Amino acid sequence: MNRTRIHDILINSQPGAKVKVCGWVRTRRDSKGGFSFIELNDGSCLKNLQVIADQQLSNYTAEILKLTTGASVCAYGEVVESPASGQRVELRAEAVEVLGWADPESYLLQKKRHSLEFLRTIAHLRPRTNTFGAVTRVRNTLSYAIHTFFHDRGFQYIHTPIITASDCEGAGEMFRVTTLPLENIPRLDGKVDFSGDFFGKPTNLTVSGQLEAEIYAMAFGDVYTFGPTFRAENSNTSRHLAEFWMVEPEMAFCDLQQDASVAEEFLKYLISEILEKCHDDLLFFNEFIEKNLLATLNHIVSSKFKMLPYTDAVDLLIKSGRPFDYPVEWGLNLQAEHERYLAEDYFKAPVILIDFPRSIKPFYMRCNDDGKTVTAMDILFPEIGEIIGGSQREERYDVLLERMDECRLNRDDYWWYMELRKYGSAPHAGFGLGFDRLVQFVTGMKNIRDVIPFPRTPQNAEF
Ligand code: 4AD
Ligand code: MG
Repeated sequence: MNRTRIHDILINSQPGAKVKVCGWVRTRRDSKGGFSFIELNDGSCLKNLQVIADQQLSNYTAEILKLTTGASVCAYGEVVESPASGQRVELRAEAVEVLGWADPESYLLQKKRHSLEFLRTIAHLRPRTNTFGAVTRVRNTLSYAIHTFFHDRGFQYIHTPIITASDCEGAGEMFRVTTLPLENIPRLDGKVDFSGDFFGKPTNLTVSGQLEAEIYAMAFGDVYTFGPTFRAENSNTSRHLAEFWMVEPEMAFCDLQQDASVAEEFLKYLISEILEKCHDDLLFFNEFIEKNLLATLNHIVSSKFKMLPYTDAVDLLIKSGRPFDYPVEWGLNLQAEHERYLAEDYFKAPVILIDFPRSIKPFYMRCNDDGKTVTAMDILFPEIGEIIGGSQREERYDVLLERMDECRLNRDDYWWYMELRKYGSAPHAGFGLGFDRLVQFVTGMKNIRDVIPFPRTPQNAEF
């Protein structure tokens, strides 16, 4: 007999149905009447299935009475109406097979609530907690919704490479990929000689799939990539990972205004999907993690994002009189505290900042006529700060060449990128959504390390 998932049973199974369920014991409670209640969870939903095992079962004394938190079991029996509140049905077991024991002396995940910091040290067990169960289901539902959104709009999903020879963001925060012997690095004229390396040249893990997505946008019009990206920035914050997932649409025949509209529609779509499809999990977060979560999510879906130029934002921040930790001055990057002030306190809505100083943005962003700014956008959310970064791309060959020189990039490394501007160039734009930051936002989780299964951060890659 195939097993039925607990989610399915709780929603669909009618009393009288015979089913088999498999999962992990959350708790066991024994009643004086000679039977036990086993709370079983299989990850398919937040709720457990209550399994009633009575002393008639052949292994009742030998096994059932020894079941502890974390053990895995399969139970077969009849679905019956539940007298208990909060659950429609329960399972009256006719057989319970213990598949794997969990010694309570050493099993680290006991019933009591553990701190999120402790759970990070047992990333192999934390998926079995309510919190990580809910995070995982939300992450899964969001991933699917991302593909649905673009698929419904005729975008092609492109698999851009993980190993690259270019630095898209130009920030030099890359992990080198090499097979050169580290204990004896070959050198030529005092420099590392990469000719004998696997690819015959220096390569890195990608920081963004954008440049390759642009290539495909110049053939398919609308494309997107969704994959892992890597940054060797030493940022030990609650919003940074060294390995994170990014969604990057790229659209030909598109300007910044259209780019921003797609981004706003996209974010609202994703949040609506989560509100609809992950209701129980969101209620859990709303109760235990962030009291205002549902109100905030509903507010974002119904609010109009506020668009304003970087220059105006700097003026606002200076006039705010707030004692920020970091200085505010035209030409400097905004910090999370500034971004949050704008989205949380001033506008009380997501903010789309546009037209940033060219000196703080990468080479590919389109230069504005003022000679000082580029056609860029950052979307700022409450709590999180920057959740999306994007821009219109520089499609003019000569201007791009100048910009590359200004950013001290080696033209030879980007010959293929330049050719896109030489043959059939077209205005185009795109953006990158930090997927893990989005999961953080919709769950209310305070630390980004708690929304990805195995976080990679400075000094930490245990699993
Ligand atoms: O603003 P970023 O650096 O933009 C790009 O990489 C562009 N190539 C995207 C594009 O236009 N196609 O990164 C995009 C988003 C940020 O807004 C942020 O949400 C997220 O990626 N992000 C990070 N998330 C987690 N950990 C990190 N270290 C992150 N760095 C950026
Ligand atoms: Mg950015």
